[in-house]
Amino acid sequence: MSNTNLSIIILAAGKGTRMHSPKAKVLHKISGFEMLYYSISASLELSDDITVVVGHQKDAVIESMSRYFESINYHTQDTLTYPGTGGAVMGVQLKYDRVLVLNADMPLVTAKSLKPFLDSSADLQLSIFELENPDGYGRVVIEDSRVKSIVEQKDALPDQLSITSVNAGIYCFKSSLLREYLPKLSSDNAQKEYYLTDIVALAVSDSKIVEPITIDEEHFKGVNSKLDLHNADTIMQQRIKERWMSSGVRMELAQSIYIESSVEFEGECIVENGVRVTGCSIIKNSHIKAHSVVEDSTLIDSSCGPLAHLRPLSTLINSHVGNFVETKKATLKGVKAGHLSYLGDVDIDEGSNIGAGTITCNYDGKAKYKTTIGKNVFVGSDTQIIAPCVIEDDVIIAAGTTLNSDRVESGSLAISRTPLKIIKGFYRKFFKDLS
Ligand code: UD1
Ligand code: CA
Repeated sequence: MSNTNLSIIILAAGKGTRMHSPKAKVLHKISGFEMLYYSISASLELSDDITVVVGHQKDAVIESMSRYFESINYHTQDTLTYPGTGGAVMGVQLKYDRVLVLNADMPLVTAKSLKPFLDSSADLQLSIFELENPDGYGRVVIEDSRVKSIVEQKDALPDQLSITSVNAGIYCFKSSLLREYLPKLSSDNAQKEYYLTDIVALAVSDSKIVEPITIDEEHFKGVNSKLDLHNADTIMQQRIKERWMSSGVRMELAQSIYIESSVEFEGECIVENGVRVTGCSIIKNSHIKAHSVVEDSTLIDSSCGPLAHLRPLSTLINSHVGNFVETKKATLKGVKAGHLSYLGDVDIDEGSNIGAGTITCNYDGKAKYKTTIGKNVFVGSDTQIIAPCVIEDDVIIAAGTTLNSDRVESGSLAISRTPLKIIKGFYRKFFKDLS
């Protein structure tokens, strides 16, 4: 879908004061990815000339986006001399005759929703939506059905504050027009900033063709506060879950489930209420029971929970882990671990059963060590396996064993028990003072 006649500028240099956070606004996450990730992804479907304007926390912004994208240009805004959205665009090199400018704080934007901006011969297009409560947005002043200007809230006259047509923060300019008008901007306003939005009034007074595009709020909502972040995330979650439910995933009480953008489902899956699935998890023909957390893990023909915690790099194939089982860097193939266990840095093979209360002691305070459990191993309840340890096929570990051997040979029983003592009459002697 790449439209090679369009340059795109994404404005991401702002501080985001209203977030009340030391982190740059565009790095706050929604459904697993930073807000800026979504605008760049949508832009990449439309153009091969994308410039992200950076400033506040520039290094952190570039570093986190470089993890996902290679072919993006970064332009550093001189925020001290030229603050504001107009200042942000100054000096950006443009490859094409038209340029789309997006605020980076619109994570719900999609390539499809930007389509109305792509085929136009107007000198300038701006985006408008109607809001019952226009608080925080620039107001679009319209007279005789024609756009006159955009007035920022902090500069608006009292009667302009009641305008409900607001600027969504997306513009498409003829590149030549942008070059012509940027030097004409002034910072003589309430925020002492160079407003990109002032170009509208300048273009109108020179009789340029200014085309307003009415867009839907859902895709172009600006995120300025933690409350906005929550609202946008709620919409993103709805999109993600609707997509998976339409392709065959059963979700019980879907509004209580959280699924990050990068999770993949395949085949027939069931996700019960209160489940959280994050990172690059892959869930194939599996059942995640209530209130389980699955992070960067793979489930194939398996089930987990209720109340299981699969931490990163857990792989369950044809296996079941039950309530209060925590796994990490664990590969279970054809295994049952029904209750109350910690299985970390471990491979467990087919037919093995892990009893309640089994702990892989993988950490000695300095380093992590691995446990390998072969086929058809029966691990009795309340076993501690002190890693590194290899348990070969067909082994029984008796309940209550502390396994401090590096290897248990195939066919063996491992048992460590202090002999049981039963001292008759002890109870009554012990509590005699009470009676
Ligand atoms: C801006 C618009 C407003 C519109 C709203 C839509 C201006 C002057 N105002 O206001 O009309 O209704 O978006 O959401 O454009 N940024 C920079 N450099 C800066 C300042 C901001 O790159 O010096 C970036 C920010 O990172 C952000 C975007 O520009 O992604 C918008 O900045 P923000 O401060 O959120 O603008 P608003 O006050 O919301
Ligand atoms: Ca904003």
